[in-house]
Amino acid sequence: MPNKAECTVTPWEVRGEVDYEKLIQEFGTNAITDDLIDRLAKHTGEVHPLLKRKIFFSHRDLNWILDKYEENEKFFLYTGRGPSGHTHLGHLVPWFLTQHLQEKFGAELYFQMTDDEKFLYNNNLTLNDTLNYTYENALDIIACGFDPAKTFIFSDIEYSKTLYKIAIKVAKHITFSTVKAVFGFNHSTNIGMSFFPAIQAVPCFLPSVLKGYNIPCLIPAAIDQDPYWRGVARAVAPKLGFYKPAQIHSKFILGLGKGGKMSASEPETAIFTVDPPEVVHKKIMKAFTGGRATVQEQKKKGGIPDVCPIYQYYTVFLNDDKQVADIYRRCMSGDLLCGEDKIHLSKLMKTFLIKHQRKRKEAKKVLEKFMLRD
Ligand code: TYM
Repeated sequence: MPNKAECTVTPWEVRGEVDYEKLIQEFGTNAITDDLIDRLAKHTGEVHPLLKRKIFFSHRDLNWILDKYEENEKFFLYTGRGPSGHTHLGHLVPWFLTQHLQEKFGAELYFQMTDDEKFLYNNNLTLNDTLNYTYENALDIIACGFDPAKTFIFSDIEYSKTLYKIAIKVAKHITFSTVKAVFGFNHSTNIGMSFFPAIQAVPCFLPSVLKGYNIPCLIPAAIDQDPYWRGVARAVAPKLGFYKPAQIHSKFILGLGKGGKMSASEPETAIFTVDPPEVVHKKIMKAFTGGRATVQEQKKKGGIPDVCPIYQYYTVFLNDDKQVADIYRRCMSGDLLCGEDKIHLSKLMKTFLIKHQRKRKEAKKVLEKFMLRD
């Protein structure tokens, strides 16, 4: 397995232990500073836990987005999902912050479902499979509490009449050697994939096209999606007369195994939003932790919460700062053992999932209200 020095982060693969500071350098983004968090909080009235805990750690042009906002030029939010299977907890991370930003800034949200991308990328999925997952995953999105009057979810396959006209304008400015360098495409990559980055760039400009004037765009996503913005959308924007889209990047939620991000392609180490709580309990009880080999050693040396997925999930799903700090301290001191910690997390996740699954069911009744159609 690659180590921290040789980690790989692409939209389709994350390998090795990710060095986030190094990614900031490599991708040319900026760290989210405490000053920037304070500036955001002036508008939101509170600091969202995902920002406070530095799970969102990097950005591009977030200061510019706030400059524009303060000049009365409102931004829209853009994020997305590649519907290759059920939604897992990792996917929810950018959606939680997106929902918070929508609520606090009254922003419209354009939500792209890349059912075309997942069909092109995955040999085992038919077009029908990915389109069905668009609607399955849309229920999770709606369950996150987005405003139906301000949220526009669209399937690439179904909304193609509008998307295609913009995509070909983007594609005309992007050479194959650019996408080869940015995404690592090679001679066996199908040509659908080499065109696809133009499609993922389109929503950065879509509201500007639909409304006929330029609107700033802010994209919350994990850092794996960055190649689309740095390599395509931001490069093309000035050529087409649009603003460059701004980004706010999150770290990855770990899978339940040793190292690596939570990924749908490794279902046994992922927690899906549709998993029954008893399945989640079993998965959590089998998880890798930052614990020591024996109870004695753990009590003596303490655990290592910074590499532990169990601890990391508290930082996303437990709002109470004091409780999170307490778990950290008790783990470090050897007072909290992994068994107790896992049972506690399993209860927390059960409460979260029961509520989420109920909202998911209710979402079926309002799904169509959220869909953008042409
Ligand atoms: P997808 O479906 O791989 O991921 C959806 C969103 O979840 C983020 N993500 C994670 N975040 C934290 N921890 C994890 N373990 C984890 N795994 C995935 C991704 O960064 C993403 O924000 N091509 C895209 C779909 C897309 C999109 C967008 C995403 C289209 N337009 C604009 C973000 C913004 C995809 O396949 O995402």
